[in-house]
Amino acid sequence: MEKKILKAGLLGLGTVGTGVYKLFEAQKEEMIHKIGAELELKKILVRPQSMERAKGIVREGIELTSDWRSIVEDEEIDIIIEVMGGTEFAKECILAALNAGKSVVTSNKDLVAIDGKELLDTAAANNCDFLFEAAVAGGIPIIRPLKQCLAGNHLTEVMGIINGTTNFILTKMTLEDMDYQEALALATELGYAEADPTADVEGIDAARKVAILASIAFNSRVVLGDVYTEGITRLTKADIEYAKEMGWTIKLIGMARNTETGIEVRVHPMLIPSTHPLASVNDSFNAVFVHGDAVDDAMFYGRGAGELPTASAIMGDVMDIARDIRFNCKARINCTCYKQLPIKTIDECNNSYYIRLMADNQPGVLSNIAKVFGDHNVSIAQFIQRNAEEYQAEMVLITENVLEKDFNAAMEQLKALSIVKDVSAVIRVYGKNS
Ligand code: NAP
Ligand code: HSE
Repeated sequence: MEKKILKAGLLGLGTVGTGVYKLFEAQKEEMIHKIGAELELKKILVRPQSMERAKGIVREGIELTSDWRSIVEDEEIDIIIEVMGGTEFAKECILAALNAGKSVVTSNKDLVAIDGKELLDTAAANNCDFLFEAAVAGGIPIIRPLKQCLAGNHLTEVMGIINGTTNFILTKMTLEDMDYQEALALATELGYAEADPTADVEGIDAARKVAILASIAFNSRVVLGDVYTEGITRLTKADIEYAKEMGWTIKLIGMARNTETGIEVRVHPMLIPSTHPLASVNDSFNAVFVHGDAVDDAMFYGRGAGELPTASAIMGDVMDIARDIRFNCKARINCTCYKQLPIKTIDECNNSYYIRLMADNQPGVLSNIAKVFGDHNVSIAQFIQRNAEEYQAEMVLITENVLEKDFNAAMEQLKALSIVKDVSAVIRVYGKNS
């Protein structure tokens, strides 16, 4: 039977949950035209200590409850929206909802990046949908484009700026000459960085998102533990300035490549050409750049977080599910990981490298350094030297593409040279797939 009135339950009324509530209200009149049915928010899960705050947000007629089972087991409710965050309780609620035959929408990247397979398999077993557009890059449509619009491609590369906090910090360091601590303090003051910014600045938030992106783009499961992860805490203004002078911009990049020898998946600071479309993605904006054999290059840009941008992605999923329920075609698109591709370690990946070092300023130094690189098949593409202190020079080199294992062997030998006083920075540089 086609249902004409559909009902949803919302688990969590924080930043994103409040946005979802607002969009239900804002779209009330339009639902019937967009999905061919009425769609109502029936119940919201709120902790007892937050009930008073919730009553100030939510209009009468929507039930506020602290009993999660009364939502996921409510026979009238067709769709559950999980926006509490965290892994254990959120997972318990989602599994219970799916097992009760309800489709689920979540923005919970922490959970999807670890337990995505189990959740998708449970959805399939119950003929339900499990959608998570908001879990990657907030308001930017990217999961659905990868799964549906770009299904006619073999995708070979997905790279993105998928953390707004770190992009804000790097933008301030690049364009406004702030140092890392100043930029982080401003990000905190403006509400971009959380009180504990570790997950953002150490790259963990971006790693969760790139694991999800890689799984979908390459049809092969990638989990958080597979992602090589480095954050931005060691970046300095000096490196940002040298990179700029040499034609590059430093960004925190989530990168996934599907190569002939396996999947590369990593998050780390990276020099990208200042002419690359991602180089001009500034402030807290996110963007995802995709390469496919048919579409060529495509880029998706927008707000990666925030109350309404994130709720926008959630409502898109909710309305999609509502349409599927309305037309009796649930679970059309479920897990798309039908391959089991190997995942490469960072040692097995190819990169160019930016190196800043202090060395003696005397004849023969450069040729000694070049010889170490040459002995390990590392070719130098760009070079700058500045005289620093007396008898010492600061050198900045950018290499050609080389296997990380060979590069590391060269660096070990270089650091052991008596003429090399300090290696101040090593940062990976974007190069075409090889
Ligand atoms: P938030 O502001 O901290 O909201 C979470 C809400 O869930 C809080 O109101 C919290 O209640 C409630 N909650 C937690 N445990 C609960 C429980 N056991 N029972 C009832 N309510 C519970 O977080 P958020 O920023 O909205 O993020 C929610 C999810 O969206 C997370 O998975 C996050 O990673 C994801 N996400 C967020 C954004 C963003 O821009 N914020 C973007 C993309 C994805 P209390 O108020 O009582 O603590
Ligand atoms: N903390 C994230 C960011 C937003 O800074 O992009 C939530 O995904």
